[in-house]
Amino acid sequence: MVKICCIGAGYVGGPTMAVIAVKCPSIEVAVVDISKSRIAAWNSDQLPIYEPGLDGVVKQCRGKNLFFSTDVEKHVFEADIVFVSVNTPTKTQGLGAGKAADLTYWESAARMIADVSKSDKIVVEKSTVPVKTAEAIEKILTHNSKGIKFQILSNPEFLAEGTAIQDLFKPDRVLIGGRETPEGQKAIQALKNVYSQWVPEERILTTNLWSAELSKLAANAFLAQRISSVNAMSALCEATGANVQQVSYSVGTDSRIGPKFLNASVGFGGSCFQKDILNLVYICECNGLPEVAEYWKQVIKINDYQKSRFVNRVVSSMFNTVSNKKIAILGFAFKKDTGDTRETPAIDVCQGLLGDKANLSIYDPQVTEDQIQRDLSMNKFDWDHPIHLQPTSPTTVKKVSAVWDAYEATKDAHGLCILTEWDEFKTLDYQRIFDNMQKPAFVFDGRNVVDADKLREIGFIVYSIGKPLDPWLKDMPSMA
Ligand code: NAI
Repeated sequence: MVKICCIGAGYVGGPTMAVIAVKCPSIEVAVVDISKSRIAAWNSDQLPIYEPGLDGVVKQCRGKNLFFSTDVEKHVFEADIVFVSVNTPTKTQGLGAGKAADLTYWESAARMIADVSKSDKIVVEKSTVPVKTAEAIEKILTHNSKGIKFQILSNPEFLAEGTAIQDLFKPDRVLIGGRETPEGQKAIQALKNVYSQWVPEERILTTNLWSAELSKLAANAFLAQRISSVNAMSALCEATGANVQQVSYSVGTDSRIGPKFLNASVGFGGSCFQKDILNLVYICECNGLPEVAEYWKQVIKINDYQKSRFVNRVVSSMFNTVSNKKIAILGFAFKKDTGDTRETPAIDVCQGLLGDKANLSIYDPQVTEDQIQRDLSMNKFDWDHPIHLQPTSPTTVKKVSAVWDAYEATKDAHGLCILTEWDEFKTLDYQRIFDNMQKPAFVFDGRNVVDADKLREIGFIVYSIGKPLDPWLKDMPSMA
């Protein structure tokens, strides 16, 4: 029986391995992590991450050929294939701080693999890493190997949170990069044999190591760039009276462009886009390509601009101050169908409003108050460094409350901001919400989920990203 071990039981390691286990009953899969609480949750009824369909998959094979454990060394020792799916956050200190990937977690995993291994192994980069990381990992492994042979493969993950299980069951492609030596090709084939149990042959792409590593950074940069492009257009739409939904539909029907990923919003978030682009920028700079670095940097600048533009719009519409006004925030996760708040635009928007002394009442169906308080009191980039978790600041606690109901959040509020596109926000009883809000009552729709005309009929003043402005908003001197 082939044995697989995955180091890192996070958003990628957990779902990916669960799907391998369910699709390959003849393979034993162990997912290991240094976090005791995370492993305990994977072994309980309350999984540590929310992902549609995940529960069912885990229940189907947990205890049979899928195991979650903190005994990292034992499972690495036993495995034929070791996936490394640890976090690779942006460095907060030292050389490349604020841009380069922090490979501390990766390096310690690699050293541990070298330490405990007594048989040849295939080591698979599942984490997103800078191009050429495999070379460094190879050096760490071979210099500490005591004669054991390691083959490094790059097998970046393309799943999207919220649709992870669907993406893993039917991936657009699986990418495997390896050395162009006979041993490297043999390792590629071994991993291909795993995926080919459910992924059609033509969807399994094989490349050299560097192409695979760079393809993941490139794919995320292209995706984020589409969002920044449509968001840049949304500002121009508001200025000219065009409607961004009509523009992006017209643009997306061109088969060379395609319709996906063209929704204007308050900005992109998630643990990957910003970190991977910053990483790409850093790599370009290190390779003497400042023009290329500058090009990709602009994708992040537009994203930051979109978030501050939204905050400015809220404040300027409400008579240029939100000081001590209650603002309801509907949605805190970085997108619907996930409880993940890493780099969510809601953090920047809430911090912007708190900077203008607003009182925030926040509702998200999947995010706890503790998480929200922690996110709002953290420094940029600290969120993905678990050991740096900071205490919650007293000011944030006082000005922010989280509730488990949209009606409670909006009661007596002066304005409401929709920051995540949860389906349930489309069908709220907006008449009831309006009746219980201060007047004039404002809706700032950062995801274009509500029918603005219907809300205007109720009496709301509505701002929708990239749509023709409400007459009220046109008359307000705006900094947005
Ligand atoms: P995560 O933070 O949810 O999970 C990483 C896990 O690794 C944590 O539970 C941590 O305790 C564990 N860990 C760290 N060092 C360890 C060690 N030495 N030994 C054992 N466990 C260790 O991160 P996530 O979101 O799963 O991401 C992992 C990688 O996958 C990152 O490089 C990310 O960029 C990439 N990725 C993430 C995607 C996503 O949607 N979240 C999608 C595609 C790639």
